[in-house]
Amino acid sequence: MTEPDTERKGSSRRGFLAGLGAAALTGAGIGMAAGEVLRPLLPDSDPAASPEAEQRLRMAAQRADATAAPQPGISGPAPAFVHVIALDLAEEARKNPDTARDSAAAALRSWTELAARLHEESPHDIAEGAASAGLLPASLMVTVGIGGSLLSAIDAEDRRPDALADLPEFSTDDLHPRWCGGDFMLQVGAEDPMVLTAAVEELVAAAADATAVRWSLRGFRRTAAAARDPDATPRNLMGQIDGTANPAQDHPLFDRTITARPADNPAHAWMDGGSYLVVRRIRMLLTEWRKLDVAARERVIGRRLDTGAPLGSRNETDPVVLSARDEEGEPLIPENAHVRLASPENNLGARMFRRGYSYDQGWRDDGVRDAGLLFMAWQGDPATGFIPVQRSLADQGDALNRYIRHEGSALFAVPAAREGRYLGQDLIEG
Ligand code: HEM
Repeated sequence: MTEPDTERKGSSRRGFLAGLGAAALTGAGIGMAAGEVLRPLLPDSDPAASPEAEQRLRMAAQRADATAAPQPGISGPAPAFVHVIALDLAEEARKNPDTARDSAAAALRSWTELAARLHEESPHDIAEGAASAGLLPASLMVTVGIGGSLLSAIDAEDRRPDALADLPEFSTDDLHPRWCGGDFMLQVGAEDPMVLTAAVEELVAAAADATAVRWSLRGFRRTAAAARDPDATPRNLMGQIDGTANPAQDHPLFDRTITARPADNPAHAWMDGGSYLVVRRIRMLLTEWRKLDVAARERVIGRRLDTGAPLGSRNETDPVVLSARDEEGEPLIPENAHVRLASPENNLGARMFRRGYSYDQGWRDDGVRDAGLLFMAWQGDPATGFIPVQRSLADQGDALNRYIRHEGSALFAVPAAREGRYLGQDLIEG
């Protein structure tokens, strides 16, 4: 799971009032200060609301910044709940490239319009009887992506940027085809699960004539309401603080990491300013993991469980010094530790922005625990992000490999929003 402390530190306090934005205040009363609008929502209406209370209110009451570049749902504070849905063109639509193109255009147009409305209104404002009636906007955000298989279906392989090449096989893959791929992707996030489900219902129904759901997975992270320290980096289901080394959102490296560079080939320019999302369904072998004592768990990652500090250091944000050794000359961060093998130093500077979620599907029919990490990594090009890092983790024997299984995989192009055009229009219509 992944969201750097810097993400919240950089944006939560500074972003509290700004983050509410004009849209948030429109419904609640123009002209009132944001604090005045929201304060009555606090249980005890404490005028000197604490940062924690501000954070709770902000996530519950705010609307997503729909003008975010490249699309909402990539940067900014991450809502507590997410539903990632991969869809394919309906079989009928796939019959020939012309019908496929028309159907793809219809689906993308519907999602663009609906997403814009959902960022401004709530699902129950759009659809009478929606399950979210009576609830606040809850930071609802929608992200729309396009899979490489869509380009084949609409006969547009010449428009496929190299960055959208199919991901290679990795030696540790244990992929199930039913959790892989997809012509389209919807990432829907919200701070409340009812608001989330109501929005998902609307979005899937809006393109039900042209598309069918291929796979979907719901994820979660701690809620703003429960966070003792809203600025802290969250933990994953293995109990690790996860997201520390992500580029900070207020640093130029962040945009450089997530944004696709302008294409040399005009046929690929539809992705200029967009981003590429790698999604992996990674099951955690939690029963095995629980058998390790704390020191062993820390050696697997190379960081402490309690503080998240690199082994041998004191604080979470201390640099990871891969060359550091103990008195016996042994590396403080083991040779097969996850952070060593994943580090930019070990991967020719490869970087990504990891913003994943935990998932917990209970137990499978065969009694095996089905929970783990809905890994999501954003980058300008997977060839200089996810791919080399995953290759190192797989081939150089990441200690974590014994405790995880990569069971699902997909890569999506997430084009930038363009004024007056539906998402992906430059691809579909040129
Ligand atoms: C269930 C699977 C995984 C778990 C539990 C996990 C957990 C962690 C943890 C706890 C850290 C240290 C804190 C941090 O910097 O975020 C970390 C770092 C990192 N992970 Fe993972 N991770 C998983 C899978 C992956 C995958 C599939 C990739 C990419 C292919 C990846 C890439 C990275 C990177 C790039 C870092 C930062 C390394 C550094 O520069 O220090 N992780 N991970």
